[in-house]
Amino acid sequence: MRISSSNLVTLLGSWRTPAGLAEGLADRLASLILDGRLPVGTRLPAERPLAYDLQISRATVVGALAHLRDRGFLTTRHGSGTVVRLPPDATLESMAPWTAPITSERSRQEIDWSAAAPSAPPPEVHAAFHAALDRLAFTGTGYSAAGLAELRVAIAHLYSSRGLDTDADQICVTTGAQQAMDLVIRTSLNALDRVLIESPTYPGALDAFRARNARFEAAAVDGKWSLPALLAGLRNPRVSLAYLMPGLHNPTGLSMDATQREALRQATRTTGALILVDDTLTDLAPPSDGTILRFHRSARIVRIGSLGKTVWGGLRVGWARTDRATAHRLASEKSRSDLGTPMLEQIAATLLLKDYPALLKVRRRHLSEATHTLTASLAAAAPSLQVPPDASGPSLWCRLPPDVTSSDLVATASHHGLRLVDAARFSPDRLVHRRLRLPVDIPPSMRPEAVRRLSRALEEVTTEKAPRGSATRP
Ligand SMILES: Cc1ncc(COP(=O)(O)O)c(C=O)c1O
Repeated sequence: MRISSSNLVTLLGSWRTPAGLAEGLADRLASLILDGRLPVGTRLPAERPLAYDLQISRATVVGALAHLRDRGFLTTRHGSGTVVRLPPDATLESMAPWTAPITSERSRQEIDWSAAAPSAPPPEVHAAFHAALDRLAFTGTGYSAAGLAELRVAIAHLYSSRGLDTDADQICVTTGAQQAMDLVIRTSLNALDRVLIESPTYPGALDAFRARNARFEAAAVDGKWSLPALLAGLRNPRVSLAYLMPGLHNPTGLSMDATQREALRQATRTTGALILVDDTLTDLAPPSDGTILRFHRSARIVRIGSLGKTVWGGLRVGWARTDRATAHRLASEKSRSDLGTPMLEQIAATLLLKDYPALLKVRRRHLSEATHTLTASLAAAAPSLQVPPDASGPSLWCRLPPDVTSSDLVATASHHGLRLVDAARFSPDRLVHRRLRLPVDIPPSMRPEAVRRLSRALEEVTTEKAPRGSATRP
């Protein structure tokens, strides 16, 4: 497949950066390759017409392409020109923006609006660590692959209090929900196994599944769950695992209603797939009857959760709740790379769970106020952005104006010193383009400037996309 020079110019959109023309062009091409809009195998136009259409020198195009060739994104074959490929470490290239190191003066002045998590620990975290220090002496060697006994009891109690009787032996404490997910994947999936996954979904899950070379079957979540796709996926005997967030879905902020829950519950009676329920955000959903979604007794279920979104991400305390044998297997797998989540954090988490209902109340109130304020600021400064009216949870899943793609906006915002996440990161096929996830937890002192930068970037992308007067070649 080949792409014409004029089509590539359209796809490139806004690519000029203050860092330099060749760097800007190379970075933009790399992001188009990573998000799948320049598929592997695409033949690029020749350098001279591309330079002409981009109105830059041929040397700049040559420099940008050479840079991409060095990074493994392009290969040049005699007779077939310059062709797109993926470097062997492409998954590293596509890693979450929040994992990127802070490298330059420019990035230090950047506002990072990429992570949907508490922007600072609440005061209770400080108090819990203080109290935990006094108890440290009673924890023996400090090694515990399955987790501190008191913490496992506290987590089991959390489930039991919501109507799901749970024993401490059914809990494996992990270093965040991310590790819980990774352990489940490592112990239950083989390379090329099929995974039923919501689209959009949590990017960290996509990274973990891709690392296992999983193949995705997507069920759309667009305003609501596409139940036919979800149920067909669960009926498909070739699906090995279903990764779902029915309690509170990241990034849309939706929760399954009673009808959808019941349909899902019924489908788990007969499915052969392991159901991996990610409850990391569930406690931030609008208050329901307080009970947890129950599945059929015969279903194989692992539920994962953490204190990362409800209390503070830096705690790094998460868990898996499953049957005893699976909990034991997860702990054994964990011990191959990590002999236990740090003890001080586990004691602090145990203490924090004692006050969990009160902490949750404050956190929910904070999120609802922050959502309200952010929605009002966006309506005033960026009215072309469609904000969901009934948003809940830690982010807003906004719809972009027609003709503005997420990657164009993210690239332009980065020139304005604002770090956003490309919506393609949330999609198993990287084909979600007209959305933007905005975390509501941005510190209030930064919010006005972040919204200002976003509004400027939106204006710039929209102006660039507006039809221009017909340009004639000199
Ligand atoms: C849905 C979901 N699951 C899991 C995680 C990972 O959570 P943790 O910080 O506990 O590892 C996140 C973090 O963003 C998330 O949004």
